Amino acid sequence: MQDDDFFMRRALDLAARGLSYTRPNPMVGCVITHRGRVLGEGWHEAYGGPHAEANALAAVRPADRPLLPEARLYVSLEPCAHHGQTPPCADLLVAEGIRDVVVCNDDPFALVSGRGTAKLRAAGVAVATGCLAAEGRWLNRRFFTFHEQKRPYLVLKWAETADGFLAGPYYQPVQISGPAAGLLTHQWRAEEAAILVGTRTALHDNPRLSVRDWPGPQPLRVVLDKNLSLPPTHHLLDGSQPTLLYTHRHRPDRPHLQHAQLPEDAPDMLPGILADLHQRQVQSVLVEGGPTVLNALIEVGMWDEIRVFRSPKKLHQGIAAPRVGLSGLQEQRRVGDDELFWYVR
Ligand SMILES: NC(=O)c1ccc[n+]([C@@H]2O[C@H](COP(=O)([O-])OP(=O)(O)OC[C@H]3O[C@@H](n4cnc5c(N)ncnc54)[C@H](OP(=O)(O)O)[C@@H]3O)[C@@H](O)[C@H]2O)c1
Repeated sequence: MQDDDFFMRRALDLAARGLSYTRPNPMVGCVITHRGRVLGEGWHEAYGGPHAEANALAAVRPADRPLLPEARLYVSLEPCAHHGQTPPCADLLVAEGIRDVVVCNDDPFALVSGRGTAKLRAAGVAVATGCLAAEGRWLNRRFFTFHEQKRPYLVLKWAETADGFLAGPYYQPVQISGPAAGLLTHQWRAEEAAILVGTRTALHDNPRLSVRDWPGPQPLRVVLDKNLSLPPTHHLLDGSQPTLLYTHRHRPDRPHLQHAQLPEDAPDMLPGILADLHQRQVQSVLVEGGPTVLNALIEVGMWDEIRVFRSPKKLHQGIAAPRVGLSGLQEQRRVGDDELFWYVR
């Protein structure tokens, strides 16, 4: 008896290597085994590139290819059945003589869901599904939320002082968290498709919202700016990376700077923004404040994760951090001098 969980965990570990690079595709890993030996493995490395199954099959040595009809193939997401950027993986597995497949998660994507496994079974392949399904859903939580809830996955993040402030009085920016928290924030920025901030944060903090201290792709910068009040000298308008302004005004787009107009009769822009980002295939958003935006999302339960750095510093007065009874504390740990509180819904 082969340990299916062991090999599926390996497939999930391989899949995770695609984090930041496969979006809006899911992360997928694949391991091909024969009587406890690994013949080949691979993962979906980048959007538009070969799928995990194709990479794993390509890694099988010529001498081992005759073993494929007796092999068991583990794949962390249902093989695709449609022609997307690459030919259908279900057809490839059948053509390569694979007869035994173990799948972690069904694909929630309407074009694929259930069709990949149906195609395999119709060709006489034995398919077992649901192996380490919870782990697979966690790995691809952005992808599943995006397709099932028709909105981006929302990660809310802020840094607060020990006495509960997020900034000084009169929106005076203050460096609250330490360098280790800053580094982690850059890693998180690379992991999400977009970063969103409110108007006053954009104005007063003049953030770059870029990934500088960590390898990875630059996210889309998303800014609420009803009246286009950001001065052209601010970093967010520097054209250095794709930026999207949600506004009530009309302004022509420039390279790397798009304007999305939302109607003035909808003063709460957030529902329109989330729907529009979904349309634009933005799978996840890191919301970096300020408290007005964070509170608005928390109040209506529009969040999937909240990550809070609590610093030992005190400010005694200033702008209050969101004060809400959060549940779902998943992790609490030290990051440099700060304490990280990580909530998952
Ligand atoms: N420590 C941290 O982690 C951290 C992070 C970010 C920011 N901050 C601090 O937070 C302060 C700013 O926070 P803030 O709460 O005053 O401002 P904010 O959330 O950045 O921006 C508030 C403004 O954004 C617009 N807005 C927010 N929610 C909206 C919604 N649902 N629909 C439409 N428009 C919406 C409104 O603009 P209009 O006024 O045009 O209506 C609102 O006045 C700054 O001092 C900054 O330094 C701290």
